[in-house]
Amino acid sequence: MVYGRCCTQQIVKILLKWLVRPRTTASTLYVVAVVCVLGTMLMSLSQIFHVHTTTSPPAHHWSIHFLSDTGIHGTNYTNTTERNETKFIWTHPEIDLLHKKPFQLLKKYKNPCWHEPLYTTNVYQNNKYSLLSPNVRSTIIRLMTEWSTRLTRDQIPQRLRCLPYFFIIGQPKCGSTDLFRRIIQHPDVVSPPIKELHWWSRNRMGKRLNYTDIIPLSDYIDMFDQTAVQIERRGDDAKHQIVTGEASVSVMWENDDWWHLPENIGQDEPLYTNADYMKHFLPDLKVIIILRNPSERLFSDYLYFNPTANKSLEDFHNRVNFSVQLYENCFDNHSIRHCLYNYTIGMASQVRLRIGVYSVYLKDWLKLYPREQFLVLTLNEYSGKMLKTMKKVFKFLKLRPLSKEQSVAMKKLKRQNKRKFKDKKLGAMMNKTKEMLETFYGQFDRELSEILGYEFSWESTEEHNNSYIKNAPVIDDNDYL
Ligand SMILES: *[C@@H]1O[C@H](CO)[C@@H](O)[C@H](O)[C@H]1NC(C)=O
Ligand SMILES: *[C@@H]1O[C@H](CO)[C@@H](O)[C@H](O)[C@H]1NC(C)=O
Ligand SMILES: *[C@@H]1O[C@H](CO)[C@@H](O)[C@H](O)[C@H]1NC(C)=O
Ligand SMILES: *[C@@H]1O[C@H](CO)[C@@H](O)[C@H](O)[C@H]1NC(C)=O
Ligand SMILES: *[C@@H]1O[C@H](CO)[C@@H](O)[C@H](O)[C@H]1NC(C)=O
Ligand SMILES: *[C@@H]1O[C@H](CO)[C@@H](O)[C@H](O)[C@H]1NC(C)=O
Ligand SMILES: *[C@@H]1O[C@H](CO)[C@@H](O)[C@H](O)[C@H]1NC(C)=O
Ligand SMILES: *[C@@H]1O[C@H](CO)[C@@H](O)[C@H](O)[C@H]1NC(C)=O
Ligand SMILES: *[C@@H]1O[C@H](CO)[C@@H](O)[C@H](O)[C@H]1NC(C)=O
Ligand SMILES: *[C@@H]1O[C@H](CO)[C@@H](O)[C@H](O)[C@H]1NC(C)=O
Repeated sequence: MVYGRCCTQQIVKILLKWLVRPRTTASTLYVVAVVCVLGTMLMSLSQIFHVHTTTSPPAHHWSIHFLSDTGIHGTNYTNTTERNETKFIWTHPEIDLLHKKPFQLLKKYKNPCWHEPLYTTNVYQNNKYSLLSPNVRSTIIRLMTEWSTRLTRDQIPQRLRCLPYFFIIGQPKCGSTDLFRRIIQHPDVVSPPIKELHWWSRNRMGKRLNYTDIIPLSDYIDMFDQTAVQIERRGDDAKHQIVTGEASVSVMWENDDWWHLPENIGQDEPLYTNADYMKHFLPDLKVIIILRNPSERLFSDYLYFNPTANKSLEDFHNRVNFSVQLYENCFDNHSIRHCLYNYTIGMASQVRLRIGVYSVYLKDWLKLYPREQFLVLTLNEYSGKMLKTMKKVFKFLKLRPLSKEQSVAMKKLKRQNKRKFKDKKLGAMMNKTKEMLETFYGQFDRELSEILGYEFSWESTEEHNNSYIKNAPVIDDNDYL
């Protein structure tokens, strides 16, 4: 068996670890010096502008009360249970992303990529994603054949390592799956074996493994090895125009483990969010966000993620009522960010109300990335003017326009409707529910328009009748990890 080899590979692993270990002494000294010189001035600046300084995380002893992960997939978010805390390893160096050195990206690739030496075919032995997905396992087997060839053929065997060039960060039930499927129709885009790796937001902290272990960055990068081979091959010496991307729709809003992370310890709300960690490695990332009327999003979310509940318009109404009160109570006593980024409240809430508060998350992203690195779409414009929207997307991604035939093929891709027949019969939410939601989301919708600099309109056919259900783009999140 390929997995059976030992010794040399262990040594290589240790060597590799040593090679890639971030050397933090210099940067730490620098930061300390700057802090000394600027003193209180920097402190107050950092408070006003939310400036991030990278300092060594102190050794902490903090109490952790873990919650059940029923609801990881949103299937069940009605209650919480205590978890066994001794299993968790928040001091793990892999958790401390900001102290890892960013990769030296190769200029000739449009996609963020770099080379790593290859010492063995058996590079995926401990990859955690391979435990979770058969698709990943078959990809890995193909790749090991490739590495085996390189090891016997090449003088200095190496593999290209890549991270995503673009990222659809949100939001759930807004058409991201359909959008991603169409983007990867472009001849210059290659797709990883799984659309939703949820690494930045969940799985790097081990959520998908029930927090029994973390998933290191290298495991995540492994998920792009297949695409890296294609990026390498499909280019001449001067130009490698092929890019890859990912669509994990938890990344925009979900920071449920923020309070364990070394740089956030002791805060009342997260100082660092997913955007910070991604910016550290991917400063040029192209960020795509697709949104939808938050009330409609919530209803769709309720229908999709409660397979066992007795769904009814009354049930939805009661859950919304409960949830709105929960958050408004929290807003009375705490900051909005404290409430929205709080896992306990998120789980206690009987619907995923917080996902619709788009402006708050977007503000956090805009603190890190310049506005021109974002493309914000609505499900309404996307399903109404699909071809035009896709043109916009490709332009944003700096990809060549599709030929006529390619456009036609892309448009022909079937839109699927994943809403079950039983749910269709339910019809639209009640007016009083809608009013309650519109009141709740109103201020955030207005804020979103202000941030984006244009009036955001959720107006669409879906507001008025249910014919949209038949034609709705595929909003199928079955490939959730
Ligand atoms: C939620 O999950 C728990 C544990 O898996 C299960 O016992 C309960 O029935 C679920 N509730 C709903 C409403 O699905
Ligand atoms: C918690 O996990 C640790 C390590 O797996 C185990 O030794 C301990 O017995 C567990 N405690 C409880 C209360 O389950
Ligand atoms: C995590 O826990 C759930 C529910 O207890 C279980 O079904 C699942 O198999 C566990 N996953 C892993 C990777 O241990
Ligand atoms: C759904 O309703 C039926 C009948 O009213 C009831 O027997 C069942 O326990 C309910 N299921 C859930 C998950 O609440
Ligand atoms: C919301 O729930 C409370 C009870 O918690 C109830 O008094 C109130 O009438 C409900 N509001 C609506 C609009 O249903
Ligand atoms: C908010 O504060 C008020 C008054 O201090 C208190 O009565 C209420 O229970 C608090 N609400 C929450 C959600 O903590
Ligand atoms: C989340 O909110 C609960 C209830 O208000 C609070 O006890 C808890 O400390 C908060 N969690 C974090 C991480 O701030
Ligand atoms: C969760 O369950 C516990 C015990 O089963 C219960 O006491 C608590 O009220 C529940 N919390 C919510 C928010 O439903
Ligand atoms: C709900 O609102 C719509 C338009 O806002 C109105 O036409 C309809 O009659 C209302 N339905 C009920 C039951 O009040
Ligand atoms: C629903 O909306 C669609 C699209 O605007 C329209 O063609 C259709 O006639 C409407 N159906 C009803 C019953 O209003």
